[in-house]
Amino acid sequence: MPKWAAVILAAGKGTRMKSKLPKVMHHLAGKPMIAHVLDLVTQNRIERSLVVLGHGREQIEEFLVGRTEIVIQEEQLGTGHAVMQALPYLDGVDNIVVLSGDQPLIRTETLAELIRIHNDSKGAATVLTARFENPFGYGRIVKDGTKFIKIVEEKDATLEERAIHEINTGTYCFNVAKLRKALKEITPQNAQGEYYLTEVFDRFTSQGEEIATYCTKDVNEALGINSRVQLAEAEHVLRERILKYWMDEGVTIIDPSSTFIDCEVELSRDVIIEPFTTLKGKTQVAEDAILGPQSTLEDCTCGTGCHVAHSVAKEAQIGPHCNIGPFAYLRPGTVLAEGVKIGDFVEIKNSKIGQGSKVPHLSYVGDSQVGQAVNIGAGTITCNYDGVKKHKTIIGDNVFIGSNTNLVAPVEVGDGAITGAGSTITKDVPAYALAVERSTQKLKENWVRNKK
Ligand code: UD1
Ligand code: MG
Repeated sequence: MPKWAAVILAAGKGTRMKSKLPKVMHHLAGKPMIAHVLDLVTQNRIERSLVVLGHGREQIEEFLVGRTEIVIQEEQLGTGHAVMQALPYLDGVDNIVVLSGDQPLIRTETLAELIRIHNDSKGAATVLTARFENPFGYGRIVKDGTKFIKIVEEKDATLEERAIHEINTGTYCFNVAKLRKALKEITPQNAQGEYYLTEVFDRFTSQGEEIATYCTKDVNEALGINSRVQLAEAEHVLRERILKYWMDEGVTIIDPSSTFIDCEVELSRDVIIEPFTTLKGKTQVAEDAILGPQSTLEDCTCGTGCHVAHSVAKEAQIGPHCNIGPFAYLRPGTVLAEGVKIGDFVEIKNSKIGQGSKVPHLSYVGDSQVGQAVNIGAGTITCNYDGVKKHKTIIGDNVFIGSNTNLVAPVEVGDGAITGAGSTITKDVPAYALAVERSTQKLKENWVRNKK
């Protein structure tokens, strides 16, 4: 079996992004561009990958450590020069795939096909091409009939060559031994004064080496990202792919044009996603859940049949058959057991809420542990913060917290206890007790009539 590795070029500046963030660290469908390219490599079971870094390398390195090997290109002297930097690390490798860090839309099956063609042809190189309506800016594939002749860059091309629609995507397979030899011979004598990787093809053809090409059926795969406009275009393409994938897997998406699902989200059959809903990060959703309309969930788990409407949740675990919203805010550390109801204008943070309990309206529950079948009345606040430290509120099973209760933590309310509406609870309430903390109501008979 020939040994393969991937070399990913990512040393360029990305000037047109006008960003302090290196280009390949910009996110697409929830993760950096470069991560999509690395996934493409691992999905094709290529064990080794080397990323060539230069501009903004510190910011990228931090993300890449442990995920790939890093090669530094001190000066960006062109794509050919970038690949040269990786050569010393390729001993024992028979073939490489060269990819660009700013081309994150190539599909697993497309790269697999390119590799298959390369393995079968046993040639020096195999080029992934695409046919563009408007090929401006790209290297053109010059052929004589079907025979590959060379790749010519836009800036070096004749008028006739510029009229060619088949372009170089910048993704290739190379035989490493043949590439080493050809790279020794390239020079920066061209319009941009760079060492072009594409010049190795001139060496190959002059030495009678075989070059194969494979044209992608989906032109979107060749999309390179150089600007924010292209970033948005790529985002759109990826999102559409993700939505189609989940619909094919049995998820109902009422309005794909207003639904945004990150690439690492996992959905189950018969989930329904209502309009204007965003699922981010590693959110996982079980069967029959209904998410939306107008909800954003990030890194959440959603149990079977739960319903989240008009709400925002982050790092929350929502149990089966929970009913969330409208207008709830579930913050990190929220853990809801089965059948919990969190209603309108309720915020939950770092709290566990037991089976069947309800927080139906206008409450803040933070740093709390709430038992089963508890009812928390409207306007209840856990006063968890004394200005310095956070404190815990513990509420047992079957507790009834009256409306507008302030629970001043640390405080504990025992099983089956009741707090009277409007009470500020500062001391623990024993099980089955009633705690009332408010002044006695005064009554002045006929006071209104007498005043007139
Ligand atoms: C390159 C190809 C062109 C192809 C196009 C596809 C060459 C000479 N031309 O042109 O035929 O149509 O890609 O998008 O290869 N990079 C480095 N170090 C460098 C220069 C570039 O790592 O010194 C990296 C960039 O970060 C980028 C990739 O290589 O990820 C491609 O470089 P770029 O400058 O965008 O090449 P193009 O001019 O687009
Ligand atoms: Mg480019």
